Amino acid sequence: TAMTSVVYYSSRIVHSLSLTKLQDFHGVVGVDSKSGTIVSIEKLADFKADDAKQVINFRNKFIVPGFVDTHTHAPQFVNRGLGLDMPLMQWLETYTFPKEAKCKDIDYATTVFSKIVDMTIKNGTTTCCYFATIHPKSAVELAKITLKRGQRAFIGKVNMDMESPKFYIEETKSSLQTTEDTINDIFKLQSYDCKKQKPSTIYDLLAIPIITPRFVPTCSDELMKGLANLAEKYQLPIQSHLAESPGESDFVKSRFPNESYTEVYKRMNLLNDRTIMAHCIYLSTEDIQLIKKCGASIAHCALSNFDLSSGILCAKTLLAAGVKTGLGTDVSGGYAPDMLSTIRFTAVASAATEINNRSKDSKSTYRKLKNSELFYLATLGGAEAL
Ligand code: GUN
Ligand code: FE
Repeated sequence: TAMTSVVYYSSRIVHSLSLTKLQDFHGVVGVDSKSGTIVSIEKLADFKADDAKQVINFRNKFIVPGFVDTHTHAPQFVNRGLGLDMPLMQWLETYTFPKEAKCKDIDYATTVFSKIVDMTIKNGTTTCCYFATIHPKSAVELAKITLKRGQRAFIGKVNMDMESPKFYIEETKSSLQTTEDTINDIFKLQSYDCKKQKPSTIYDLLAIPIITPRFVPTCSDELMKGLANLAEKYQLPIQSHLAESPGESDFVKSRFPNESYTEVYKRMNLLNDRTIMAHCIYLSTEDIQLIKKCGASIAHCALSNFDLSSGILCAKTLLAAGVKTGLGTDVSGGYAPDMLSTIRFTAVASAATEINNRSKDSKSTYRKLKNSELFYLATLGGAEAL
């Protein structure tokens, strides 16, 4: 097309058309160099060379779409590999909360956040869904950094008002107020006037605020309901953790004995078609159905689940239930910040599930994810989930 100014040639362009259809061909990707937008993808046989186009030769290299990391924690980048001999709740208290608390110092936060954004981009993550910290300034700073680097990002100011250490906890009212301020600050960075625009246009922004109650154990009912109201008011996405580990699930059960963990989020109005929940290992068939019915998505974080010995989940069971699913690095539950490693660990979790099923039942017909499905989860599947 007339707009095309640079053409990238590769003997292997690979991308997903759907869960089961992976296209792999010899061809060219045309890019409008002014906007950086991909304007054409053609098989080599259909491509007409033209003097106006600069051809960049990626012979013997792959061209793939940008990867989508549907769940990670920016302040935990410096903690990769630490304390992985502990279960989740103890690990959070010992390693995670003290390190996140340091981001009150904005210069420190800037240093750490710059590192994770550079590292994820270097590894091909063009869209990343982040938890920042409870500090409003640090969340806005993370948005500044992703905007400057050109990474599409979901930016969550974390909320927690109970069962948290004195040095890393908020008051309910100010947690809600500073969350609303943060949303507006992130809009302002992009000269976005939410009063003049249709709510759906927030999804055209490069940095999208996301409502981020950490998880049920650290959030009061009042906080969760207030956050649901903010999500409704601005039509924002929502992210949290759900049923990641046995200890956490028991904790929630003791506070809410008469409903499931999933039902708590639903009753608090935090489970809808703009929600993405990380992990979702310890769920009943009914819970999975509820997630599907609400149109919510799941961020599957295989490596984190091994590192913290949380559990093993095969993403195939989520796909089979019709739930939108993506992959997350979950740094620093997971020590690897890149999506290629995440694809590999997802494959291992899936194979472990096939093996487990076979050892329980020698006639089991359960089969692990295919490579085409793994590639989909890291790209198009993650995009659909977000
Ligand atoms: N559940 C609540 N907070 C966290 C966190 O920071 N990491 C993981 N893996 N799980 C959580
Ligand atoms: Fe997480």
